[in-house]
Amino acid sequence: MNMASIGILFLFFIVIRAQTEGKSFVKVECKTGNVGQYGQQSMLDCVVTTSEEVKEPKITVVAWKKKGSEDALDETLLVFHKGKTTGQPGYRFAESSWNDRNMNVSLLITNTTMVNSGDYKCSVMTDSGDDITETSLRVTAKYNKPTIRSIPVNITGREDVTLICSSVGGYPKGRLRWFDEHNKEWTASSEMEAEQTNDGLFKLSSKLSLLKNSIFSKYTCVVFNSSGGKEDEVTLEIPDTAASEGHGGEKGSDQISKIVAPVVVIGSLIVGLLLALLIHRRRSQRDHQEVPTCELDAEQGGLVETYKEHGNGTV
Ligand SMILES: *[C@@H]1O[C@H](CO)[C@@H](O)[C@H](O)[C@H]1NC(C)=O
Ligand SMILES: *[C@@H]1O[C@H](CO)[C@@H](O)[C@H](O)[C@H]1NC(C)=O
Repeated sequence: MNMASIGILFLFFIVIRAQTEGKSFVKVECKTGNVGQYGQQSMLDCVVTTSEEVKEPKITVVAWKKKGSEDALDETLLVFHKGKTTGQPGYRFAESSWNDRNMNVSLLITNTTMVNSGDYKCSVMTDSGDDITETSLRVTAKYNKPTIRSIPVNITGREDVTLICSSVGGYPKGRLRWFDEHNKEWTASSEMEAEQTNDGLFKLSSKLSLLKNSIFSKYTCVVFNSSGGKEDEVTLEIPDTAASEGHGGEKGSDQISKIVAPVVVIGSLIVGLLLALLIHRRRSQRDHQEVPTCELDAEQGGLVETYKEHGNGTV
């Protein structure tokens, strides 16, 4: 008897729970993977959904907060409460004339900066139930057109040069690459540094060293974003005089040496041959003249040896 009544009570309780839960079925659903562009508007897209039984739900509270990292407190950005909307400057409802019957509670960030990247909480209370959901924002920034400066400022072609390419204002960390006028890549000979500026963005700079005799007529520095997409580029034209005296000059001297080298080799061969011929002729002439002397000397005995030694020494 007692057990039965407890059982009935329990069932009753479950049914009531299920009914009220069904009735108060309110959810805040947010789009995932929100990406914002630095300096532009970003939206955290969230809507309140209710079960079918809920007719004309009315929102009583909306609170948008940015989650604090570790021990930092959550920061309240936008609140709707008691019919009034308050918030920090730069944050508002994405719906321009939002009211408590509008289930689109998306948050609009009017001017996105790096501090806006992170996790957010959206709490909603309605006359039919409450919910709280988290969402996040990833901020990216496009790198500015790079600039190239050279050390020394004037490229003469008579001294080595360092080119420095820089691009600022990007996020996340990207890459600078170098190409010459034939689109041959020189990045391997360069050195890149990435520095985070106060605004949280990256400044990329890359140094490319050029030897005075191998300076091309054009150098292009290209900035790529973190996922390898090309963002912008700049080309430095080397003054003709420097490039021709430098790289062009190398070409010229290459051609000259291509002509000069065989000429020198052939010339010295000819000269050598002539010399050898001359010496040979002289020697054979001398031998011809000497032979009789030797023969004559031979008759005189010991003198022959001294003559031979003398001859060997001179030839
Ligand atoms: C919410 O409102 C914003 C601004 O009008 C709109 O861009 C967005 O698509 C809406 N979200 C949904 C889920 O309807
Ligand atoms: C990188 O650039 C590509 C092509 O422009 C673009 O589709 C991509 O979204 C960019 N990625 C980032 C992280 O900015």
